[in-house]
Amino acid sequence: MNDLVEQLILEVDKGLRFCTNSFEQHKRDYPAKDMNENKLNEIEKNHSAGLMRVNHAGEVCAQALYRGQALTADLGEVKEQMVEAAEEELDHLAWCNRRLKELNDKPSILNPIWYGMSFSLGALAGLAGDKWSLGFVEETEKQVVNHLEEHLEKISEKDEKTKVIINQMRDEEQSHQEQAKEAGANELPEPVKEIMNKVSKIMTSTSYHI
Ligand SMILES: [Fe+2]
Ligand SMILES: [Fe+2]
Repeated sequence: MNDLVEQLILEVDKGLRFCTNSFEQHKRDYPAKDMNENKLNEIEKNHSAGLMRVNHAGEVCAQALYRGQALTADLGEVKEQMVEAAEEELDHLAWCNRRLKELNDKPSILNPIWYGMSFSLGALAGLAGDKWSLGFVEETEKQVVNHLEEHLEKISEKDEKTKVIINQMRDEEQSHQEQAKEAGANELPEPVKEIMNKVSKIMTSTSYHI
């Protein structure tokens, strides 16, 4: 029991750091590092920043989801694969931080709420068993890919840097989705998918602004 409390305290501390720490480098290079900044007007810049704030919040959720799941799920052989995916998500978080800074903007103030929610969902999915836990990852990543694809269409053609970052993230989220599926994910029931969709709509529409 004490161990669990201790672990939870550690997790809360980590979570707060993911939400507040604006680290700009994790392991891999920034995909837009050698690119020049095209001149964007105020509307284009604010739109890119709003969408990157949403993506940043999504990456905060990804950390929470993977960490929540790691606390309760066994995951056996695929554990290493999940740890690797979580590492890639940390690169994504760093890239979103850096792009937001370049656009003179800030992450969402709601991130601690999203973190807490996603952590609990990840831990619950883990308790439901590995196949459900993987199913939750698969569905989350699928929804993220859809969002990123929408963002690629909405961002100004001039903002090539943001597009390059989102493109790389989209490819990697897609492979996280495929990995979860190949590892034996159960497909989530439609009502669950719908709830996830609704929650993510609330998350994206608010984080775009604040
Ligand atoms: Fe990601
Ligand atoms: Fe992912």
